[in-house]
Amino acid sequence: MSYEAVRKDYVKHTLEESDCLPDPIHMLEDWLKEALKEMEDANAMTLTTVNPDGFPESRVVLIRQLDQEGLVFYTNYDSAKGKDIAIHPKVGVNFFWPWLERQVRVRGIAERLSAEASDAYFNSRPRESQLGAWASIQSEEMTTRDQLDKRLVECTERFKDQDVPRPPHWGGFRIKPQYFEFWQGRSNRLHDRIRYESVEGGWKLSRLFP
Ligand SMILES: Cc1cc2nc3c(=O)[nH]c(=O)nc-3n(C[C@H](O)[C@H](O)[C@H](O)COP(=O)(O)O)c2cc1C
Repeated sequence: MSYEAVRKDYVKHTLEESDCLPDPIHMLEDWLKEALKEMEDANAMTLTTVNPDGFPESRVVLIRQLDQEGLVFYTNYDSAKGKDIAIHPKVGVNFFWPWLERQVRVRGIAERLSAEASDAYFNSRPRESQLGAWASIQSEEMTTRDQLDKRLVECTERFKDQDVPRPPHWGGFRIKPQYFEFWQGRSNRLHDRIRYESVEGGWKLSRLFP
């Protein structure tokens, strides 16, 4: 199959400088809210890290918190992404909301959340997800699916009749953003792109060619 004939024109919205809030975090909050109203998984973001060989690696994670401190997601600290971040904390994030014809890029520095903050979120998760965090050795090779099922049975037995504590290898990362780009699809590929760069005392806005 050729993909050359797959074409779409982007016509739903525009992005003027006058639409842009001075604070990109507020802007991202607004766009996220709008996206979540229309579609499940709108809080999914593609996270790019750099692996020990210098290759960029991307995968989807869910944003769980967004405020002036940054973007928070949760994962296994011993996973491939966790190990990448321990060496190279500079990460990239991308949201794509096709139904709004919007994309947002973020660059920032990832750091671990405090144990208390990770505990608070872990304790709010369904028990099955808590047990899963113990059972999965995320990113490690497994022999057969049975190995995971067996580990889950073992963990279920181990924490029977008690609250499941947060595994020490599981928790949150906060990405402290330094750069944002808000992209709104426009007709004939002449899209709107507004960039926010972190500068002394605030954010500098500029428009980019599409
Ligand atoms: C919609 C969606 C949401 C996901 N959310 C998370 C998440 O919040 N945390 C996480 O560790 N993995 C999440 N994953 C799985 C990751 O994409 C990835 O497979 C996993 O974290 C292992 O990545 P790594 O080996 O690069 O560390 C999600 C996947 C999808 C498709």
